[in-house]
Amino acid sequence: MELLLRGGRVVDPEQGLDGRLDVRIADGRVAEVGEDLLPGPGAEVRDVAGMVVLPGLIDPHVHLREPGREDAETVRTGTRAAARGGFTAVAAMPNTRPAIDRESLVRFVLDRAAREGAVRVYAIGAVTKERAGEELAEMGDMARAGAVAFSDDGSAVMNAALFRRALEYARGHGRPVIVHAEDRNLVGDGVMNEGALSTRLGLPGVPAAAEEVMVARDLLLAELTGARLHVAHVSTAGALRLIREAKARGVRVTCEVTPHHLFLTEEAVWGYDTNARVSPPLRTEADCAALQEGLVEGTIDAVATDHAPHTREEKLVEFGLAAPGMVGLETAVALVVDRLVRTGRLSWAGLAERLSYGPARVLGLPLNAIAPGAPADLTVVDPGAEWTVDPDEFASKSRNTPFAGWRLKGRPAATIVAGRLLMWQGELLV
Ligand code: DOR
Repeated sequence: MELLLRGGRVVDPEQGLDGRLDVRIADGRVAEVGEDLLPGPGAEVRDVAGMVVLPGLIDPHVHLREPGREDAETVRTGTRAAARGGFTAVAAMPNTRPAIDRESLVRFVLDRAAREGAVRVYAIGAVTKERAGEELAEMGDMARAGAVAFSDDGSAVMNAALFRRALEYARGHGRPVIVHAEDRNLVGDGVMNEGALSTRLGLPGVPAAAEEVMVARDLLLAELTGARLHVAHVSTAGALRLIREAKARGVRVTCEVTPHHLFLTEEAVWGYDTNARVSPPLRTEADCAALQEGLVEGTIDAVATDHAPHTREEKLVEFGLAAPGMVGLETAVALVVDRLVRTGRLSWAGLAERLSYGPARVLGLPLNAIAPGAPADLTVVDPGAEWTVDPDEFASKSRNTPFAGWRLKGRPAATIVAGRLLMWQGELLV
């Protein structure tokens, strides 16, 4: 099997590549990168002139909902949504039913992925048994089974002493702990950002401090233990400032931001649109500006979708009763390209850093190099493609997006995993 990508702008900052080049792929690997390459006999040739060829993009934070919530998403559908969205790999969060809190369940996810997955899937194990925050899960067994990180995502481990132990174990196993930094008591029954708008809408609010208190605690415990901490879905300028200061002190911390926290404010909750309910909640214009700046400048290591599929039934209820979360795999890359790359704020190399290398470094994965001999995991983006977000076209089982109807310029045009073309111009080939 041979594939020739012809005439694209190939951007790989690790290899020092940025130019109009052909990429020849054979036997699942990059065979050659150069000018005017000739296809071998029987090779498939794809013209990617005008498009950008990037190291395969990695989403470090998705919810595939298997086992237990196959009505909202499965490994099969979630990895197809990833392929449509331009991601060659995803890391699956363990807040399934049951939670991925032991070796057999890590194996279940990885087996499912091997059998039915389209893109690569990495498993994240729970920090505590049943994610109940009371007893540590079998982290060592899960690490040996292939878990790349640990997280109780969806909630924080409120017991600081237990969380300290979790960091120590994770460090021993060479894995990061990914935190959902929200103090449960400060969140209370809050369902949106706390401020003037929540008062006007009559909805209970979640103060920025709910996140910041927890980020501060976790940074101190990371410093104490020397463990690697990764802060998921940072939503406030204050949390970002704490992380920036900790990085400067040498704390081993990384963090991620979602497209919705970058590009949507609490105003999206107007009209009580349950698709805008997410945890942590959408914040203010000033928070968005700080997060965009943090991503461009590099305090934020990665973009993560927090792809959180929910059924119609879970969203067709009053705002406060709606399940928090939104799907993101099929809109994330386009949003970053449209809002940050096309506006000149983030370079293509910067996009490769934040959506491929950054996530890989956070999770300790191999870097997707566009270099001879490397596994051919590549994403091609068409920066000129104009399109409208239509949830009915999603490969995901769920449709809960607040971006429906958005006009965007720039779109993933091809997803290649181990040399196999999985998606071309929005159409799945698997
Ligand atoms: O809004 C959210 N939804 N935030 C999370 O951390 C979990 C996610 C989910 O699993 O639905």
